[in-house]
Amino acid sequence: MATMLNQMAVRPLSDALGAEVSGIDVSKIDDPTFRELRDIFHDRLVLVVKDQDLSPADQTAFARRFGEIQYHISPEYLMKDQPEVMILSNEKEDGKFIGLPDGGSEWHSDHSYVDQPTGYTVLHAIKVPRDGGDTEWTSMVRAYDSLSDDMKRRLGGLIGTHSFNRLKNSRLTVPVRHGNDPDYYKRSPPDSYHPVVRTHPATGRKALYMSPRFTIGIKDMDDVAARSLLDELFAHINNRAFVYRHRWTVGDLLLWDNRATIHLACGGVPEGQHRRMHRTTVLGEIPF
Ligand code: SIN
Repeated sequence: MATMLNQMAVRPLSDALGAEVSGIDVSKIDDPTFRELRDIFHDRLVLVVKDQDLSPADQTAFARRFGEIQYHISPEYLMKDQPEVMILSNEKEDGKFIGLPDGGSEWHSDHSYVDQPTGYTVLHAIKVPRDGGDTEWTSMVRAYDSLSDDMKRRLGGLIGTHSFNRLKNSRLTVPVRHGNDPDYYKRSPPDSYHPVVRTHPATGRKALYMSPRFTIGIKDMDDVAARSLLDELFAHINNRAFVYRHRWTVGDLLLWDNRATIHLACGGVPEGQHRRMHRTTVLGEIPF
């Protein structure tokens, strides 16, 4: 069987993480090329695959090659005929948003608020604005590696508390559109507990596993001490040397590994300009 492997070109995007891949069509990718792509992905943690013309069904089929689909807990923006795909968009129809308008506007790792969080996310650019709308990723492997030995020792065995509920997180506000919507608060699952330092199942590398959006405390540590430790770690993570920032082009397919990165939708899309992304998430393992 002909393989796409020979046509695949790869170039790194930043020192810390990210690689751009061109010359492949992920809807037709053969097994050897897929395995090579996955190895590069585990090494670089964020992949930008250029020029992908994918239907939502194609995107779902590609995501399934990485594992079981994880459905988002907010049902209103899942595609009716392809619920594996969630729409992220600032576009409106009949006065209502057609997708989640402000998804990812604080640093986070997808679905870390459940016991079995997302492994991989696949995001396809359908419409991109002329201005704004970039996304950033931070390598939590680099963030961990650059901690002092003393801090690494302190973090050993600690468990972070993760919550979807914004009311439990003093770093956040609740978007105005949720103010009077009791269903929004009810959908929050029970808090989940994950190691502050987790191990990547494929590479064995250690990464910090926490985020300002979802990590609200440390198990068995009082709130003041936990807040102070998290403040220190969030300040450490906030280092441009660990970041890749992506300026989107229509047809870009971004893959990221949530076990070892956090990401941020940077916003800044002016009124009247439109952004539409299709997002699929793949279940990961219970963090260890
Ligand atoms: C996300 O946080 O999953 C979406 C990021 C983006 O839309 O840039």
